[in-house]
Amino acid sequence: MLPIYTRMDKKQLIILVVGSGGREHALVWKLAQSKKVKKIFCAPGNAGTSLFAQNIPIDSTDIKGLANFVRKEKIHLTFVGPEAPLIDGIVDKFRKNKLAIIGPTRKAARIEGSKVFAKKLMAKYSIPTAKFRVFTDFKKAVSFVKSSKYPLVIKADGQCLGKGVMVAENYKVANKFLKKLLIDKIFGMSGEKVVIEECLTGQEVSFMAVTDGKNFVSFLPSQDHKRAFDFDLGPNTGGLGAYSPVPYLNKKLQKRIEEIIIAPTIQALRQEKCLFQGILYPGLILTTDGPKVLEFNCRFGDPETQPVLFLLKTDLIDVFEAILKKQIYKLKLSWAKGFALCVVIASKDYPGKYEKGKIIHFARATLTKGVVVFHSGTKNIGDKIVTSGGRVLGITARGKTLKIAIKNAYQAISKKDVHFQNMHYRHDIGQKGLNKKLWQTA
Ligand code: AMP
Ligand code: GLY
Repeated sequence: MLPIYTRMDKKQLIILVVGSGGREHALVWKLAQSKKVKKIFCAPGNAGTSLFAQNIPIDSTDIKGLANFVRKEKIHLTFVGPEAPLIDGIVDKFRKNKLAIIGPTRKAARIEGSKVFAKKLMAKYSIPTAKFRVFTDFKKAVSFVKSSKYPLVIKADGQCLGKGVMVAENYKVANKFLKKLLIDKIFGMSGEKVVIEECLTGQEVSFMAVTDGKNFVSFLPSQDHKRAFDFDLGPNTGGLGAYSPVPYLNKKLQKRIEEIIIAPTIQALRQEKCLFQGILYPGLILTTDGPKVLEFNCRFGDPETQPVLFLLKTDLIDVFEAILKKQIYKLKLSWAKGFALCVVIASKDYPGKYEKGKIIHFARATLTKGVVVFHSGTKNIGDKIVTSGGRVLGITARGKTLKIAIKNAYQAISKKDVHFQNMHYRHDIGQKGLNKKLWQTA
């Protein structure tokens, strides 16, 4: 049995949030509003998390270091933001040491850690996804792509820092990528197996749900913007903006997604003895054949978490407690009316090579009502805040309508309320949510 903290009614909890992105700043920001939280640590955190939490210089993948710190500081509960420590088994290690933690075990986190595992699970349990084949042998893979229709999608099995997926337009490109994975092994073991799948078209949405392994409650749906430039051009990034909820994803479609994707996946993982507890987040595509899974994530999305938590009225500790006590069936989430939108400000040339150490000037944005600036790649140097990553800030705003949320977020940027040299951002975040035509398949 986990040592669950005792009196939840008192402001007495000490929490550790693991990670250092915009998602973790949003988590820390939300936890700081809880009536039940006394102190928050963030490892390693960023300049934004340091406003609400004590940053601790322990890397999010240093599981042993984190466990020692939790023991030393008598931390009641740890929440893990990024996938890497979950895939590496942080939950298993903490549980073994009787430390309370939220997230899937190593076995359950394979749903994100291994595309082959996820695809085979979906095939076995009839969860809708793109048709696929798995290959380990270069010659066999090449002979398959030679006779395939294009475009098709090639995915490395494991984690490749966002570079493991290729939408191949023709045989030449497919052959080259397969060679990189299976012969040159540029991603090492992560690319030793590949999934080759049909290319689907439709709007992509992020559908996050919280589960105790048996029951679940969905968060508001959101939409990420993964490409680097306006109109979805340029390379794939970690996500350059998101909004929530998605206007054309109606209640009926949400229910269908829950019935044909979320519920059967949680059930499948239980049946496979990989009980999944935490945040299950499938990346979906809404095709003319209905919603299908592009990939599974075993954690909150970044930047989707920023607008979603911005609208969540429920105390996050109540959500965590429901997971730990396996009482998700009792959990009801309550939401602020309207929409929220997060525009990510990135370093020029991200996701390629980019410069760091640019001084960030903050003016009114941090003071504007209804706007929150979540930090990602930032750090404190003396009394200055400087850039330290590709994605730097997430200007997050609310509005009664999506249109107003868009206006509010961009106004905060155009007034130069935040600024650093060579900053880059997309100008069309949220526009897809206003264009009904795009959602006709849904
Ligand atoms: P993944 O890491 O699997 O989400 O893939 C990254 C991105 O590649 C997705 O967000 C999609 O834009 C694209 N993608 C992945 N799989 C497919 C597919 N089967 N059809 C079309 N696009 C895909
Ligand atoms: N926004 C995409 C992700 O969190 O994986």
